[in-house]
Amino acid sequence: MTEKDILKILSEVRHPARGDRDIVDLGMVHGVETKGGGVTVTLGFPKRRDPLAEYLIGAARAALIRGGIKDPKVETVVLEDAAPKKKAPDFDTECLRNVRHIIGVASGKGGVGKSTVAVNLACALARLGYKVGLADADVYGPSVPLMTGTEGAQPMAEEVDGRELIIPLEKYGVKWMSIGYFAERGQALIWRGPMACNALKQMILQVKWGVLDFLLIDMPPGTGDIHISLLQEVPVEGAILVTTPQEVALTDVEKGANMFRNKGINRPIFGLVENMAWFTPAEHPDEKYYIFGRDGGARMAEDLGIELLGRIPLVQGIRESGDAGEPAALGTRPDAQAFIELASKLAAKLG
Ligand SMILES: Nc1ncnc2c1ncn2[C@@H]1O[C@H](COP(=O)(O)OP(=O)(O)O)[C@@H](O)[C@H]1O
Ligand SMILES: [Mg+2]
Repeated sequence: MTEKDILKILSEVRHPARGDRDIVDLGMVHGVETKGGGVTVTLGFPKRRDPLAEYLIGAARAALIRGGIKDPKVETVVLEDAAPKKKAPDFDTECLRNVRHIIGVASGKGGVGKSTVAVNLACALARLGYKVGLADADVYGPSVPLMTGTEGAQPMAEEVDGRELIIPLEKYGVKWMSIGYFAERGQALIWRGPMACNALKQMILQVKWGVLDFLLIDMPPGTGDIHISLLQEVPVEGAILVTTPQEVALTDVEKGANMFRNKGINRPIFGLVENMAWFTPAEHPDEKYYIFGRDGGARMAEDLGIELLGRIPLVQGIRESGDAGEPAALGTRPDAQAFIELASKLAAKLG
């Protein structure tokens, strides 16, 4: 593989905020090294805070892997005339200055419906008249684009007071931001460790949110370092925990709760949402089947000293509307009502 081949591969990577020109054409590739079978590429960024830096690094890596290069390294240099005396922090919370409540939506494990609850809660709060944003911080499995029918959308970047900010998408009265808008299907999976961490902080801290009553953060499932780092740098006021009623899920919730309560994090948990609390068949809307047990959520809430903020049924329509990109909370069915009630309770709790 020659340098020319590698540049050809890199010319597939486009910069969404630069008229879609590719990174080679833009002169961003500052070095290509092929030593001992490995490939190291250096990208130069004119600004310390290019909001798309993490995206471009990930995209370059993905392109190289697709081009057949095993474990390519992508390094960066910041192109500045003189290094500032004191290193400015990479991120600050300026973009969140006019956001009243920042709430993490978390779960101890994946697949319990955390994103479904987050997206529908955002829509329900908007229906109640609040200004709402949602940041999809699940770098490993962003699902907001699919659930809101905004797949393939390309957010713009805009310079605001000398800083490049990403403009969130607006649909259903909610401002949406997701790492999914910057990644091809599956590509986000390539980000690991610190890179994933930075990418998700960018999705929250370098976004032109404007004035909001609520900013919900769809957090990655689980309780790892990435969560701790996120909670240390983003002024999350508190959290909502999502669970299903099974015993295993409830054990995971306990871990989730401890994450917010321990390790110098110390943020309140506003409530527990029991998702898939019962099953209601489409053809018998008045029937309730407690297939995962009847009061698991209520018991867990009591054990953990957390309020049970809402119970959402398992109905086919919730999955279907999620897949169709039209959240159930926008409709008129009883399951929409469950989300509206959850939203009202949360809003009342936070004043
Ligand atoms: N209450 C519900 N009723 C029906 N399907 C649901 C419900 N909650 C979630 N789902 C479906 O379950 C799957 C996983 O939900 P998701 O929100 O992506 O989970 P998580 O974000 O916790 O991984 C999705 O296909 C979603 O549509
Ligand atoms: Mg999810």
